[in-house]
Amino acid sequence: MDTSSIVILDFGSQYTQLIARRIREQNVFSVVLPCTASVAEIQSQHPIGLILSGGPCSVYDQDAPVADPNMLAMGLPILGICYGLQFLTYHLGGKVRSADKREYGPAQVSIVSGQTENPLFAGLPPSLDVWMSHGDEALDLPPGFSLIARTANAVAGIADASRNIWAVQFHPEVRHTPRGSDLLRNFLFNICRAEPNWTPAHFIQSTVSAIREQVGDGRAICALSGGVDSSVAAVLVERAIGERLTCVFVNNGVLRKNEFLQVQQNMRDRLGLRLVAVDASHRFLSQLAGVLDPEQKRKIIGNEFISVFDDEAVRILDQQQPGAAVAWLVQGTLYPDVIESSSVKGPSQTIKSHHNVGGLPANMKLKLIEPLRDLFKDEVRRIGRDLDMPAEILERQPFPGPGLAVRILGEVTPERVALLQEADDIVVKEIKAAGLYQQIWQSFAVLLPVKSVGVMGDQRTYAYTCAIRAVHSEDGMTADWVPLPYNLLKKISSRIVNEIHGINRVVYDITSKPPGTIEWE
Ligand code: XMP
Repeated sequence: MDTSSIVILDFGSQYTQLIARRIREQNVFSVVLPCTASVAEIQSQHPIGLILSGGPCSVYDQDAPVADPNMLAMGLPILGICYGLQFLTYHLGGKVRSADKREYGPAQVSIVSGQTENPLFAGLPPSLDVWMSHGDEALDLPPGFSLIARTANAVAGIADASRNIWAVQFHPEVRHTPRGSDLLRNFLFNICRAEPNWTPAHFIQSTVSAIREQVGDGRAICALSGGVDSSVAAVLVERAIGERLTCVFVNNGVLRKNEFLQVQQNMRDRLGLRLVAVDASHRFLSQLAGVLDPEQKRKIIGNEFISVFDDEAVRILDQQQPGAAVAWLVQGTLYPDVIESSSVKGPSQTIKSHHNVGGLPANMKLKLIEPLRDLFKDEVRRIGRDLDMPAEILERQPFPGPGLAVRILGEVTPERVALLQEADDIVVKEIKAAGLYQQIWQSFAVLLPVKSVGVMGDQRTYAYTCAIRAVHSEDGMTADWVPLPYNLLKKISSRIVNEIHGINRVVYDITSKPPGTIEWE
């Protein structure tokens, strides 16, 4: 794709992906490259501006990440952020030192008088609330640079307007810098002269024509889970090659209540996809019998999935085009996976393969199509909306590949799966009825292998315990438990205990991640 872009060189900050997101929110395309990217690699992205990210090191550290200094001579507008400011200071002939006072957290920045009119600060007040996170500070500015902003303790912004190089010590990309998006917008539109043309319609059009060209008259298969990513990826490929895409959806025996049928309906009837649905639940459940260890459960499900998918893929491809040389495998890989797998310390580009289909045999000669590999999750939803996909599919909460198996502690048996399916269904329905489903990253039930005594009517009961989990998260990497309203918890609890024979106690999980994980196994 030859869209012009803002290239972000990653020096290892935990916020680098956020910079990319904030820029794309302005409808400008951005890519993250490791700081070690060569000038040629940067050029290949059609850059109209460069951003140097923050990072955890000091420029004086022995293994401090460095970028090719030739990128400074490309004539592109540059914005350094945090470590990016220190990198520019150091490499352009200034001095950086360890700060007397480490700044971490909220701070007040004053724009130096006379600088409020500069294009980076246009429209901003003279004093800004910002988020700082640094130990080093610029001491002497490089030749040609002037101070444009400061905190009480340190340099907060520098610039050489004649060379179009700008840098701030704080983090405009985080929400704790309330006017940060305005500053980034100024960089994009006042300094880089970007056009806001990175839109869903543009993405769909160029991706569909790229896939059409790539696949030619070949065929493709796609492992569909019914979730957002694989569904959107499949619809994009279907737009490009139509009937030559076949989707495979496997019932692994640990799907949610009615999910096997519902996903088939959604995919066939609502999205018009050509779908092969394979009910392999007996194969999975018999392999899982007697297994208690969480990792072993995951391995069994992963391997069994590959085996079922392989059988189907070979069958489908043989049926359609016996002996054909090239077939394609569609994967819903997202941009965070791509970034994660290209390390800051080296330009290694080993792309993580989807955990479910990573082990396909080499002799199938499947080539990968990853139409979403430039996108973040929220962008995938936007694209899905523009593809007219039903909200019900796009707004589904994430569901793990190993399904309910990692939410049934202890042995996975058909009876326990059925119990958890019922409990999970109540949780999801009640959270939807309370209008909270879309605001919550994940909300679900967990079946514990703990039995306790209860009383129902005049009867003593001795039955399982169910835990409710609901978390807010941006990406699943960290999460906060959601303080669900007491009345909602009350309703969920009483429905589960009253309606599900086999569960007589409900508890609420109030653990964030870290230290807990989202799933229990
Ligand atoms: P944890 O439990 O590690 O989960 O905090 C983080 C996020 O990842 C999801 N998850 C998975 N997704 N295959 C998946 O596709 C898996 O094996 C898997 N394990 C966890 C989990 O639901 C949460 O959103």
